[in-house]
Amino acid sequence: MGKNDQRFVRPVKVAALATYVPPRVMTNADLEKLVDTNDEWIRQRTGVAERHVADPGVGTSALVVPAAQQAVAQAGLTPDDIDLIVVGTTTPDTVFPSTACLIQHQIGASNAWGFDLGAACSGFTYALTTAAELVSTGSHRHALAIGADVMTSILDYEDRATCVLFGDGAGAVVVSPANDDEPAIIDFAHEIDGSGGPALCLPAGGSLRPASHETVDQRLHFIRQDGQAVFKFAVRKTTEICKRILEKNEIGVDQLDLFVSHQANKRIIMSAAERLGLDEKKVVVNIERYGNTTGATIPLALNDSIADGRLNKGDLVLLASVGAGFTVGSVLLRWAF
Ligand code: UT7
Repeated sequence: MGKNDQRFVRPVKVAALATYVPPRVMTNADLEKLVDTNDEWIRQRTGVAERHVADPGVGTSALVVPAAQQAVAQAGLTPDDIDLIVVGTTTPDTVFPSTACLIQHQIGASNAWGFDLGAACSGFTYALTTAAELVSTGSHRHALAIGADVMTSILDYEDRATCVLFGDGAGAVVVSPANDDEPAIIDFAHEIDGSGGPALCLPAGGSLRPASHETVDQRLHFIRQDGQAVFKFAVRKTTEICKRILEKNEIGVDQLDLFVSHQANKRIIMSAAERLGLDEKKVVVNIERYGNTTGATIPLALNDSIADGRLNKGDLVLLASVGAGFTVGSVLLRWAF
C-alpha cells in the first residue's frame, strides 16, 4: 500500500483501556527458593523484579472480566453495546469453549460475537488490528480487543531459564468509530515467520501430541524456549517492523511521543530502541513489575504510562510485538483520550 492508501475504511480509535493483574506477587527472592537462580541474574538479564501470579483455579477469563467491565464503563457504554470480542491469548481457560465466549457470558455482552486469536506475544496487537478493521468497515460499532494470559499455568518451575521470565495479567480496550477530527488508529504492519516455531512452543496438549502419561512425564505441557534464538529474532524484527510502519507513513522516529513494545526482556526493548534511534525517554519499560505477561504486556504498559502522565490525548504512539510462531506486529496510533 502506498502512503495515500487508506488503511481503514472509516476512522477508528481506542476509546478506553483497562487492565487487571491478580493480587499475589512473586518476587525474585521467592523464585530463589524454587530454582537455582538469583535476583541479580534475573534483573540484569531480563529486567524483571517481580510478577503477579494467578492462584490455582483462576483462568485467563477471570483476569479479563474485571478489565473488560472497566473498559466498557470507561467508554461510557454498557456490555449490550459491544458487538465483537477478540481475545489474544495463549492460555485460554480451555481449548474450547473459547475465552471470548466465557467473557461474553460473564460480562453480559448479549449482542456480541467473538473469538480467540492465537498469536502468542503479538496477541494484543493482532486483536486490536482485527477489532479495528471490523469496526472501520461499519459492520460493528464497538469492539473489545483483549490481550490476556495466565502464563504461570504453562511454566515449568524446574526450568530456571523460563520460569523467571513470565507473569499473569489482562488488558482490554474498547475500539469505536472516531470522528474525522479525533485522534485515531493510523496503521498496522504485521508478519509471521513459521520457521521460528521450534524456538518457542508448548510441545504437547494439542492435536499432534494430546495429553498422555508420557507427555506429562516428559514435562511437555510447559513452555520450551531457545532463549538466544528468540532474543536475536526479537531485536531484529522489532526494529524492522517499526522502521517499516514509520517509513510507510512518512513519520520520523523523533515525531513519536511514546514507544510501547511487548515486554519480554528489557534488553530486547532497549536494543531495538537504540537501533531505531529512539530517545530513551520515549521508551516504556515496566517489565520489572509484571514480567512477560504475553498478551497483556502492551495494555499494561499503556495503562502505566497513563497513570504516570506519560501518555496523553493526541500523542503519537507506536506499539510493537514479537512472539512465538514467530509473530511480529506493530500498530501506529494517536491516543484518543
Ligand atoms: O515473549 C516471548 C519471547 N521471549 C523472549 O523474548 C525471550 C528472549 N530471550 C531472552 O530474553 C534471554 O535469552 C533469556 C533471558 C531467556 C536468557 O538470557 P541469556 O542472556 O540469553 O542467557 P543464556 O541462555 O545465554 O544463559 C546464560 C547463563 C547460562 O549458564 P552457563 O551455561 O553460561 O553456565 C544459563 O544456564 O545463564 C544461566 N541461566 C541462569 N542463571 C541464573 C539461565 N537462566 C538462569 C536463571 N538464573 N534464571
